[in-house]
This record gives sequence, C-alpha cells and structure tokens, in this order.
Amino acid sequence: MDPFKFGQVVSGSDFCPRPELTQTVMGYINQGQNMYVQGERRIGKTSLIFEACRRLKKYRIVYVDLFGVKSSDILAKRIVKAIISMEQKENGVFTKMFKTFSYLRPSFSIDPITGLPSVSLDATVRMTPDDIETVLDLIAAIKTAKKPVIVIFDEFQDVLSIKDSDETLAMMRSKIQFQSDIAYIFAGSLRNKMDEIFIDPDSPFFKSAVLVAVGPLAKTEFKGYIIKRFRNGGRRIKDDILDRIFEIAGNIAGDIQQFCSALWTISSTGDSIEQDNIPKALELIFARESKVYEADIDTISEQQFICLNGIAGYGGKELTSSRFLMNIGIPSSASVLKALERLIKLRIIFKSGNEYKFTNPFFRAWLLYKNF
Ligand SMILES: Nc1ncnc2c1ncn2[C@@H]1O[C@H](COP(=O)(O)OP(=O)(O)OP(=O)(O)O)[C@@H](O)[C@H]1O
Ligand SMILES: [Mg+2]
Repeated sequence: MDPFKFGQVVSGSDFCPRPELTQTVMGYINQGQNMYVQGERRIGKTSLIFEACRRLKKYRIVYVDLFGVKSSDILAKRIVKAIISMEQKENGVFTKMFKTFSYLRPSFSIDPITGLPSVSLDATVRMTPDDIETVLDLIAAIKTAKKPVIVIFDEFQDVLSIKDSDETLAMMRSKIQFQSDIAYIFAGSLRNKMDEIFIDPDSPFFKSAVLVAVGPLAKTEFKGYIIKRFRNGGRRIKDDILDRIFEIAGNIAGDIQQFCSALWTISSTGDSIEQDNIPKALELIFARESKVYEADIDTISEQQFICLNGIAGYGGKELTSSRFLMNIGIPSSASVLKALERLIKLRIIFKSGNEYKFTNPFFRAWLLYKNF
C-alpha cells in the first residue's frame, strides 16, 4: 500500500518528527498563550498543531476551519458545529451543547456515501457577531481544570473576507483577551493577510498572539523518513534523486509526499528509483491535475499568462527588471505588476520575501513540460 500521505493531516507514525516546533507549541498551549501559526501552503501547520495537542492528551479541542467563510453567520455556525462535534466525539452522545443550541435546530447525520458524521444547523436562523460572543463565552464555560480547552481557528486569514470583518474581529478579540486560561491557535498560510491581522497596529488582533513560524521539515530527517518508507516497500531511492524531488516540490512537505506517492505508483517491489522515473511520476501528477491548471489559464488574460509562463521559465525574482521584461516581451513593468497582482489574487502565485512563487509547484513544472 502507498505509504505516502498528502492532502490530509498526518499524525502518529506518519508525522515526521519536528521536536523543536512541537515543543514550542506544546509550551505555549500549557501557558494558555495564544499563538498564530504561519507558513506556506501544505508545509505542515495543521499537522503540527494536532500533533502538539495529541501529545498533551488532556485537552479538549475545538477545531474550527474558516476556509471560505464569507459572513459572521457562517463563522458563528462553524464554531457551534465545532463545539457540538467535539462533545459528540467525547461522549458519543449529544448532551449539553446540543440542548444549548436547540434554537438552531442542530441535527446529526451520517453521510450515506462517505459514512462520515456531520452536524447541520437551521440555515434560516441567522447568527450575528453578537452570537459569536455568546458562543465564545460558552467555550469558556465548558472547560474544567481537568479538561482544559484549546481552540484552533484554521485558515484564519479568511476571516478578512467576512463583510463586517472589522466588527467581527474586534468582538472576538475583546472576548478572547479575557480568556487567559484558554490557548487560542490561529493558523494561516497567506502571509500578508495574517500580518494584516496580527502585525498591523490598526488591527484589533495587533500583538494579541505570538508567532510560530512553520518552515520546511529538516531535510536530513525528512529524507530519512522517505527512504525508510520506500525501503519498507522494497524500493531503493538515492540521495541525489531525493534532492531533485525536494527542489521540484519547492521543499514543501505535502508536495514532496505527493511526488513520492506518484513515484511509488509507477514503481514496483525490488525497483531502484532512478532519474528517468522523475518525468514519469510528474506525468502521472499532470494527468491528475492538468484540468485544474487549464481552468486557471482560462481565467487569466494573455499578459497574465505570459508573466506566469515567464516566472516558470526564468524564476520569480526581479520581475520588473529590464532583463525579465525583455525575456517575456512585455515592454512595461507596470503591466507586469498589474498581472502579478491578479495572479496573486487568484492564488496562482504568492510572494515570499522578494520572490514570486507558484502556489502549486507542479503547475510550474507542467508549464515547463508543455513548453508554451
Ligand atoms: N511532520 C510531517 N511529516 C510528514 N509529512 C508531513 C508533515 N507535516 C506535513 N506533512 C505533509 O504535508 C501535508 C499537508 O500537511 P498539513 O495539512 O498539516 O499542512 P498545512 O500547512 O496545514 O496545509 P494547508 O496550507 O493546506 O492547510 C500532509 O498531508 C503531509 O503530506
Ligand atoms: Mg492546514
């Protein structure tokens, strides 16, 4: 069976140890210190947080994913669902919280296709920022000395997409700051948006949490983890091949695992993985993902495409230099900047320091492969 997991939280033996970061997060949780966990997409933020919580054992976890929230109604309901789910997981039955939220007519069901449990709430009852306040009070009320609570707001940057985000953030901050014995963890991948929330002096969350920066896994440890998995499946892989994989995948844990999974699929027991397996594995990834790349290309203009293709070919640094403009055949740096802005908005690329990078490194590899 394919031992490489990607696109999901990894824990236990699937979690390649990163002891320092895990200890830092555990330490902050124990102190009731709020933190914001920031790092690139698929670098391992959510897995790190869950691993730290798992190791601390005694905590109850309220996990709220803010991905795509657009209103305070949706946000409040996600928190309610997270509280009910936590209680359900613990007791197997609905008790206090289920009753508390009876006005939202919570219902519990098992999805007939996936078999996964889910909670749904009455869509016609609208919740407001004030309700979020009440819900946060409730979280404080469910904690006990024996069973303290950790609240995780994942993809927290998406709170900025809420129409009245200022009001919502101000209200959340005013509650959270008095709950000194609850550790709140805010995780997010869009650096500029997270900075807007935690570093901008005008933001209600200014200086309200300490930063935990998540970078790539330590290379030696992660290589060892991968080699062992291939070896357990009767395959060998050399160090220089691993270096290529890390490079193509931009050093991102999730993308490295995706690449290894493709290499696993195209190889068999007894094989030694060689250079020529790399293009084959990439082709497998492209076959699965190229529809998404094509859809992205359909939504951008010709100039934006030229810029994107230019970044793939020439790298993402100094994109307003005359050399880059000449290379891609666009005369004005203003046009390039406008194109970059749009590509960032579409989340096709992002800025990391002074470099523009592809959100999905395989999209870049595909453009090079297509040689447009
Ligand atoms: N400690 C780890 N050991 C091994 N693989 C890891 C580790 N952390 C992350 N990964 C790999 O990265 C993938 C993504 O992990 P995770 O969802 O925790 O990242 P994330 O930063 O929260 O991603 P996103 O930005 O999509 O929310 C995992 O499925 C796994 O392939
Ligand atoms: Mg995550």
